[in-house]
Amino acid sequence: MKALISAGGRGTRLRPITHTLNKHLFPIANKPMIFYALEKVSATGIKQVGININQGDKEIKKAVGSGKKWGVEIEYIEQKGGALGLAHVVKNAKDWIGKDELLFYLGDNIISGSIKPLVNKFKREKLDCLLALSKVPDPERFGVPVFKGERIVKVEEKPENPKSNFAVTGIYVYSNLIVEAVSAIKPSSRDELEISDAHTYIIEKGGKVGYEEITGWWKDTGKPEDLLEGNGLVLANIASEIKGSVDKSSKIKGRVFIGKNTKIGKNVSITGPAIIGQGCRLKNSVIESYTSIADGCEIRGTDIYNTIICDNSQLVDCKKRIANSLIGRDCKVISEKLSQPRGHRLIIGDNTEIEL
Ligand code: DAU
Repeated sequence: MKALISAGGRGTRLRPITHTLNKHLFPIANKPMIFYALEKVSATGIKQVGININQGDKEIKKAVGSGKKWGVEIEYIEQKGGALGLAHVVKNAKDWIGKDELLFYLGDNIISGSIKPLVNKFKREKLDCLLALSKVPDPERFGVPVFKGERIVKVEEKPENPKSNFAVTGIYVYSNLIVEAVSAIKPSSRDELEISDAHTYIIEKGGKVGYEEITGWWKDTGKPEDLLEGNGLVLANIASEIKGSVDKSSKIKGRVFIGKNTKIGKNVSITGPAIIGQGCRLKNSVIESYTSIADGCEIRGTDIYNTIICDNSQLVDCKKRIANSLIGRDCKVISEKLSQPRGHRLIIGDNTEIEL
């Protein structure tokens, strides 16, 4: 069995972050999101991994490398013609898949549990397709299975009136029938080759389709609030460790990881779960739970809650608490200068959101 991980697409719902960074490299608890997919895939014992990338993309290759770190061999597969849908991702990789079975893992999904039981069930029951399901309050955002008794008879993509409260998550296991399915289906009304249509094709062809409800949490990190939620879920289990230095006047409570060469200066209170990367400087600040601060950041005179801050950003003397925020790399959020003319000075790019 080979594994294919998706890392292309346009990331439109995460702009402006995705104008300059592939969403699969956005840090969740200070680790690029796609690393979680690679960890899960490698734990199944699969050795040959394909990563679907946008045409001309060099960022993913640079960050992920050969795969040695995870004990796998990675082939980068450019999606020719653009981001034409998830079934197109598989169709585009069909020469690489050859006659093998396939684990297809969407690189923007993160889960807490192991996927080994899914692969085991697929093999044990000699299935053509195993769908990992998760109960959700908003199935209309996902592929939704339609059941007849215990059997899935159809999968509908983002239906207005979902026929069950399950989402088909982005972890799929297939026999080689998937190659036929993705070649046979036609583009949907939004002009994409839908993976849900490939699943319905397999069912209609008489393929053996099974499912398993995911144990533990599952997150599709499509929107900013999903990234924050995913970050919080991962942080909830991080190991506490302090590699940097902490001033005597500062207090650290709960699960907190502090990286090398980070200086927690005077009057800082950190309440976990939280992670602070390497080479950061913090002073006179309150860092509350579910906050991830990446390497090289400077935080002074600022309170932060449930926020992700990427490398080398500065937050200085912010008068109001920064909460539920995503802050990219090399950003500056500083207090308004009291010189004339008064007002907030903003140098911000396209698609930015600010609440003043
Ligand atoms: O997360 C689960 C959901 O993923 C399923 O329930 C849906 O049935 C499935 O269609 C998919 O829906 P999304 O709207 O979340 O898919 P999205 O366009 O966000 O793409 C998911 C991943 O695939 C993400 O890693 C980006 C990548 N991608 C996407 C497309 C359309 C590609 O690499 N190439 C593409 O052409």
